[in-house]
Amino acid sequence: MLIEWHDSLRVGFEPIDREHQILVALINRLHDDVIVGRDRDTVEEGLFTLADQVAAHFNHEDGLMRTWSYPDRPGHLLEHRRLIEQLDILLDGIDLLTGPALIEAIGFMDRWFTDHVVGSDARLGAYLRASTASAA
Ligand SMILES: [Fe+2]
Ligand SMILES: [Fe+2]
Repeated sequence: MLIEWHDSLRVGFEPIDREHQILVALINRLHDDVIVGRDRDTVEEGLFTLADQVAAHFNHEDGLMRTWSYPDRPGHLLEHRRLIEQLDILLDGIDLLTGPALIEAIGFMDRWFTDHVVGSDARLGAYLRASTASAA
C-alpha cells in the first residue's frame, strides 16, 4: 500500500471524499500490482481504470465548481490538467513502460494526489460545504 487513507485527506464534502477514497484504492492497487510483478495486462488494465476514474472525478469536481461559481476554478482546473497530462504520457507509451518507470510515475501520482487533496480540494470542499449549507 502506498497511500494510507486517513482523516487529514478528508475535504469534508462527502461525494468528493467518497471518490477520493476510490482513487486512493486504485493507486494503491496499481502500485502493489507493479511491486509484486503482476502481468502486463493486469497493470495496463489498472492504469486505464485509474485514468477513467480520474477523468470522471475531475469532471464531477468541475461540474460542482460551475454550479456553485467557485472563484478559483481556473487555477484548480490547471492543477487537474497536470495529472491528466502525466496519465496521457503514461498511456501513450504504455508498451515501452518498464517497472522502475512505472514506480516513478505512480510516485508522482501519489505526491500530486496528496498535495492537491490537502490543498486545493480541501479549499474547494470547504467552499462547497458553506455554499450548499447556505442554499439548504
Ligand atoms: Fe480537484
Ligand atoms: Fe479531487
